[in-house]
Amino acid sequence: MKIFITRPIPEIGVNMLRDKGYEVLINESAVDRPADKKELLNGIKGVDAVLSVLTDQIDGEVMDAGLPDLKIIANYAVGFDNIDLEAAKKRSIAVTNTPGVLTNTVAEHTFALMLAISHRIVEADKFVRAGLYNAWGPMLLLGSGLSGKSLGIVGLGRIGSRVAEHAVRGFGMKVFYSDIKQSSEFEKEFRTQYFENLDDMLGRCDYVSLHVPLLESTKHLINEERLKLMKTTAYLINTSRGPIVDERALAWALKERWIRGAAIDVFENEPKIEPGLLKLNNIILTPHIASATEETRDKMAELAAHNIIETLEGRVPPNLV
Ligand code: GLV
Ligand code: GLV
Repeated sequence: MKIFITRPIPEIGVNMLRDKGYEVLINESAVDRPADKKELLNGIKGVDAVLSVLTDQIDGEVMDAGLPDLKIIANYAVGFDNIDLEAAKKRSIAVTNTPGVLTNTVAEHTFALMLAISHRIVEADKFVRAGLYNAWGPMLLLGSGLSGKSLGIVGLGRIGSRVAEHAVRGFGMKVFYSDIKQSSEFEKEFRTQYFENLDDMLGRCDYVSLHVPLLESTKHLINEERLKLMKTTAYLINTSRGPIVDERALAWALKERWIRGAAIDVFENEPKIEPGLLKLNNIILTPHIASATEETRDKMAELAAHNIIETLEGRVPPNLV
């Protein structure tokens, strides 16, 4: 069996595949850049499985280059908007993702962003390094707290639920959520309130955190109109997918102070960033690293490799999407 890995990933996953006696081809040159289309088209030729990452656009053309041998595309991510699922289905190619293993890490990053923006950590660090800290001040760099505040979760999947749990148990926040479905058990356990209509929730939240997958229906879910529905004191956190937010509208909202701040890990046209955002100090930007801890990336590599092994040994992989 031959496996193509589109970019170098943690060794532990590679070794699992090699230990099975598979021939593993790694696109070694794509370390700090995405694989290009030519590399994908060439690499996929004659292989039984592809281990892809979220910067790979795997469309029908790429899949065709892998036929007739290609049986599975194992995405090293929980999101799979980079893969054309319809095209895979038509060609009977399995697609898997890596859910679960990154839930805690992404929830933690969500809080890292929430705390950093509300406590003005990045601004404060810049202030100290710039030599501006001359004296303690009663009004110096005043921020905003989490405790007792309301958090609106948009999308109550695994990650959204974990964020809600930390918010209630760890920070004494009041949690609201909006999702296509209501979860009564969750509501009871965490004393949360469900909003069928996102618009009705936004104006009540001190923090809004996005946890929906990227779909046609979620693109620009947070647009100009919805940013205007938020409190002027509210913060927006995005660790899901960039296109969920209209980035130009966000830049405008932050500049004109429709909302107080934002902290985002994902961008509409990664790795390009709306220039307006870069000039503002009421936003924190991280480069799509919400799942980037050593231990979690190891687990993602293991899970992607496991999905490949199960498929190639004729079993149903655990994380079919
Ligand atoms: C990262 O964004 C992922 O989907 O795993
Ligand atoms: C992803 O793991 C989600 O369901 O939130």
